[in-house]
Amino acid sequence: MTRQSVVIGCGSYLPDRIVTNEELARSVDTSDDWIRKRTGIRERRIAADDQKTSDLAVNAAKEALRAAGIGPDNIDLIVLATTTPDETFPATATRVQAALGMTKGAAFDVQAVCTGFIYALNVADNFIRLGQANTVLVIGAETFSRILDWEDRTTCVLFGDGAGAVVLQSLEQENEREMRGILSNHLHSDGRYKDCLYVDGGPSSSKFVGKLRMKGSEVFRHAVTNMVSVLEEALKCNNLSAKDIDWLVPHQANKRILDRTAQKLKLSPDKVVVTVDRHANTSAASIPLALSEASMDGRIQKGDIVVTDAMGSGFTWGASLIRW
Ligand code: UT7
Repeated sequence: MTRQSVVIGCGSYLPDRIVTNEELARSVDTSDDWIRKRTGIRERRIAADDQKTSDLAVNAAKEALRAAGIGPDNIDLIVLATTTPDETFPATATRVQAALGMTKGAAFDVQAVCTGFIYALNVADNFIRLGQANTVLVIGAETFSRILDWEDRTTCVLFGDGAGAVVLQSLEQENEREMRGILSNHLHSDGRYKDCLYVDGGPSSSKFVGKLRMKGSEVFRHAVTNMVSVLEEALKCNNLSAKDIDWLVPHQANKRILDRTAQKLKLSPDKVVVTVDRHANTSAASIPLALSEASMDGRIQKGDIVVTDAMGSGFTWGASLIRW
């Protein structure tokens, strides 16, 4: 018998406020045409002033628990991926734990920026495989609007706020060939590229939280290369090829990155789940938001081969291959 982590529920939450490209063009020197053509983004959601990352995360978590048909008491562990925690400490995951009414188990944050959800999924999967947890809530939640320089047109048009969550549960299975759940995880980082995408502040380096800075075209180039190579690594590890993929659920940074990645893998564009047009880049939240959308609307079905991949600041990149 092999112990695998199976997704038993997904949930998401987006703040009510929609900010269109036209609205942004009223405050910075940009246009709807430029943003759509270069990124595929039409609009993004922005959290209300009194909404924190944990508030978004709690809403997504509640929906995921409802979809899974279980209560917070069944959760052994919360792993929350974020770059925009409520405060420097405590971990935002512990705020979510309290808000859900949980008094047992453990909760902590993982920080790998846009690759955060893949890192969190890998950590949660390891806890389950080792028998240290049976049921884990994995959340990606961000309020990137708080760390944007709203006068910098090269970055402020690219990001949005939101949260997504999945519930993973252990399942003992015999049939190796039909095994459901997370089949493999692949994580990478290369700290030499930290200056390509970073926040120019933080508790140990300055008095300020700081704002996001990015060398966009350099990040773009590495994003395509790294995402293609990690997807090939995941497929090879499972003796699969691109034609076996039912759904590619990538981190949503730029529609051109998604198109280029699919093209290089010779994957049909209609197998790629796209939300960047409506959500923009929500960093660690983008994959669980997309997973949630595609499972709720019935595209992702039990038994499907689903591959998720991401690339972000660090650089960090990674992929998880799942038989749903
Ligand atoms: O999630 C983490 C990973 N992040 C990413 O993957 C983001 C990766 N990068 C990108 O998506 C793209 O590089 C961007 C969307 C950020 C930029 O697209 P680009 O095609 O690489 O444009 P560029 O940076 O080469 O800029 C082209 C021009 C420049 O003007 P000049 O120098 O040619 O006159 C920019 O100043 O576009 C200008 N520009 C804008 N114009 C109107 C940059 N931002 C804007 C803007 N509106 N918002």
